[in-house]
Amino acid sequence: MADTAHPELRIDGERLLARIQALHEVSPIDGGGNCRLALTDDDLAGRDLVVTMMRDLGLTVSIDVVGNVVAVRAGHTHTAPVMCGSHIDTVRTGGRYDGNYGVLAGLEIIETLDTAGVITKRPLAVGFFTDEEGARFAPDMLGSLVYVGGLAVEEALDTVAIDGARLGDELSRIGYAGSTPCPGVVPHAFVELHVEQGPVLELEGVTIGAVESVQGISWTELTIVGQSNHAGTTPMRLRHDAGYAAASVAVFVRGLAGELGGNQVATVGACDLHPNLVNVVAGRAVLTVDLRNTSEDGLREAERRLFGFLDELAVTEGVTITKRTLARFEPVIFDPGVVDLVEQTALAQGHTVRRMPSGAGHDAQMLARVCPTAMVFVPSAKGLSHNPAEHTEPADLEAGANVLLHVMLALAAE
Ligand code: GLV
Ligand code: MN
Ligand code: MN
Repeated sequence: MADTAHPELRIDGERLLARIQALHEVSPIDGGGNCRLALTDDDLAGRDLVVTMMRDLGLTVSIDVVGNVVAVRAGHTHTAPVMCGSHIDTVRTGGRYDGNYGVLAGLEIIETLDTAGVITKRPLAVGFFTDEEGARFAPDMLGSLVYVGGLAVEEALDTVAIDGARLGDELSRIGYAGSTPCPGVVPHAFVELHVEQGPVLELEGVTIGAVESVQGISWTELTIVGQSNHAGTTPMRLRHDAGYAAASVAVFVRGLAGELGGNQVATVGACDLHPNLVNVVAGRAVLTVDLRNTSEDGLREAERRLFGFLDELAVTEGVTITKRTLARFEPVIFDPGVVDLVEQTALAQGHTVRRMPSGAGHDAQMLARVCPTAMVFVPSAKGLSHNPAEHTEPADLEAGANVLLHVMLALAAE
């Protein structure tokens, strides 16, 4: 069959759902979600399943030095592939669609093309990148960052997890320290299909998001050291309370987001107190601040105000506050041509479509450094994500995969 766009071609929705269910059954957690923190035994089980699916489809699978997995389907020409993909690691309380959907939809597209006997001009590739979530090893999008040459391999391998493990050791332990070098092959284009993870598409009754940008991300870990002391005997004025200081930071950033308005969001998502006992003033707190904004200037202003507040807090509470940057990525603008292609493809398939920014971080924002890139979003029920209850309707999953199919066919014919 010729390598034209095959406008009639559609993926098999049942087969896509079966793959999503199979990957969900690896490491399921209460509430319908998954826990596959990067490079744990659960991640290993997920990786093994997806690599088996890739090999069963006859794809050429390579594993690189930081564990990114890329599966290639040959085209008529030996040119740069059109690549899709995402990640299969999850946060500790993850949903079954975040990342997984984009990878498994890619495999469904391959099977659809196999069944129809379509060979594209360019090769097609489906990848999954190591540690997209950053929940175990910061920064997030670590594997795709290394893939595009944005972080040195040695530095990535030396990254230490929240549980103290070294990334390189964990990679070897689970058998995913591959030999394919990084930076990896530069695709002709990269398109990531993902659930929105926010409420916009559902609220507006729109099926497809043509993602134009990803907001900037600033993650800072704060270590606050005060004086551990007796909760009953220590007068309030004499306290150096790391717990109080940590709580103040959480309250401050919430107010900051309100004051700055616009797209500014702010979260204290992790907080560890020591010794964490009812009758002891906390002597130490380790907490994280996640700031995001679609505007780099806005994000810088949020950081400036936060850091100013920390300086004041250190003095007023008599504590020391040490900052460590876990992740810092500027906002990313996707390729207008690929965004247009996503929008036009969705419209041609009769879907409602909306251009939008992404609130979450994605591997696509790293691939955008090296090739034309965009994303396709589908609705997330109630806007829930990083939550086991994350859900997307089967019809929407199917619609997104069909848009991705035809976007890839068009790019692969170039
Ligand atoms: C990744 O999912 C992030 O946006 O934190
Ligand atoms: Mn994701
Ligand atoms: Mn996620």
